[in-house]
Amino acid sequence: MNNSNFVSFSFFCFLFLSQTFLSFSATERCNPNDKKVLLQIKKALNNPYQLASWDPKTDCCNWYVVECDPNTNRIVTFNLFSANISAQIPAAIGDLPYLQTLVFRKLTNLTGPIPPAIAKLSNLKLLRLSYTNLSGTVPTFFTQLKNLTFLDLSFNDLTGSIPPELSLLQNLDALHLDRNKLTGNIPESFGKFTGKVPDLYLSHNKLTGSVPKNLGHLNFTVLDFSRNTLVGDISFLFGTNKTIQIVDFSRNMFEFDLSNVKFPDSLTSLDLNHNKITGSLPQDLRKLNLQYLNVSYNKLCGQIPTGGKLQTFDISSYFHNKCLCGAPLPACN
Ligand SMILES: *[C@@H]1O[C@H](CO)[C@@H](O)[C@H](O)[C@H]1NC(C)=O
Ligand SMILES: *[C@@H]1O[C@H](CO)[C@@H](O)[C@H](O)[C@H]1NC(C)=O
Ligand SMILES: *[C@@H]1O[C@H](CO)[C@@H](O)[C@H](O)[C@H]1NC(C)=O
Ligand SMILES: *[C@@H]1O[C@H](CO)[C@@H](O)[C@H](O)[C@H]1NC(C)=O
Ligand SMILES: *[C@@H]1O[C@H](CO)[C@@H](O)[C@H](O)[C@H]1NC(C)=O
Ligand SMILES: *[C@@H]1O[C@H](CO)[C@@H](O)[C@H](O)[C@H]1NC(C)=O
Ligand SMILES: *[C@@H]1O[C@H](CO)[C@@H](O)[C@H](O)[C@H]1NC(C)=O
Repeated sequence: MNNSNFVSFSFFCFLFLSQTFLSFSATERCNPNDKKVLLQIKKALNNPYQLASWDPKTDCCNWYVVECDPNTNRIVTFNLFSANISAQIPAAIGDLPYLQTLVFRKLTNLTGPIPPAIAKLSNLKLLRLSYTNLSGTVPTFFTQLKNLTFLDLSFNDLTGSIPPELSLLQNLDALHLDRNKLTGNIPESFGKFTGKVPDLYLSHNKLTGSVPKNLGHLNFTVLDFSRNTLVGDISFLFGTNKTIQIVDFSRNMFEFDLSNVKFPDSLTSLDLNHNKITGSLPQDLRKLNLQYLNVSYNKLCGQIPTGGKLQTFDISSYFHNKCLCGAPLPACN
């Protein structure tokens, strides 16, 4: 190879290499800040197997567990599910400013509190921290996440009371606080959701007291208060005016007369089992298109109205009452 040939060969090599390099960086969609933060998160989670695809040499938009927005190329989804992770939620998660969906689910060795850094994620719409061993209280900083439509903190070890401020979340479709160790009352403010009226899942906690009367002013669709120690009359949550569809008030200490309660046409599922409900089953129950009914283990009396869906339910929907009778239970005397 003579000198001039060597020069042109080298030039060719340079061109080829720079082309390759340019095309490589042109296809790398990942935002460098997002990549840096994700690698910090990976380290804080002790480099779990589930994040093995998070190789700094590759495009983070191709990594498992996360997703980039196709237009902005920023990380918008972080969904970590069923992994063997023994760590706390890394504060670095708050440095993914475009995040809309954040899920940590079925990570039983994920412990510690819900980090305040999450409050920085102002674009967050869906937050699910569920089936983990998170402890501490339900933070009030969630109210800063104005766009939140879905908040799920179920199946954790959260303690303390329910923050009344959660009613300030105007776009909330559903609030899952079930299966924790929450104490205190259902906040009065839950009768004053200023925007949407969310489905409320508060079951399997240690909630006490009576349900605030002003919850009767809102049109809820789903109310699940089961397995707490709530007391008193909740008949104000019914009424012909309402739009409620699914009700689970089972395994509490509710005490009221069912005889004159008016149920709305919208009701499809009614579970009142294990309370101290008295009176008889209203005739109007026959008019409902019920898919589920359970009034067992109460203090009800009298004949089960005949017709509608009421005889399609099993004995176990009615058994263990004071003197309820008629099909499917034994005939009345
Ligand atoms: C949780 O941690 C314990 C103790 O380190 C370990 O034995 C167990 O396998 C872990 N479980 C999961 C699902 O990660
Ligand atoms: C989880 O990880 C721990 C420690 O790294 C290990 O001892 C355990 O066997 C793992 N558990 C499962 C279910 O993989
Ligand atoms: C996580 O929670 C499960 C079930 O509540 C419990 O058995 C386990 O000991 C907890 N693990 C840790 C590491 O706290
Ligand atoms: C909430 O969402 C709207 C529209 O999706 C967006 O314009 C707004 O910036 C978001 N708010 C915050 C605080 O991110
Ligand atoms: C609840 O819904 C009913 C039926 O759609 C409606 O008549 C009533 O005004 C609503 N109440 C409230 C407080 O929105
Ligand atoms: C039904 O709702 C309207 C408007 O919210 C209210 O004025 C009316 O008193 C309610 N009727 C009953 C029977 O609750
Ligand atoms: C009704 O609730 C009781 C008590 O929890 C239960 O034993 C029974 O199986 C339930 N019936 C139906 C139809 O779900």
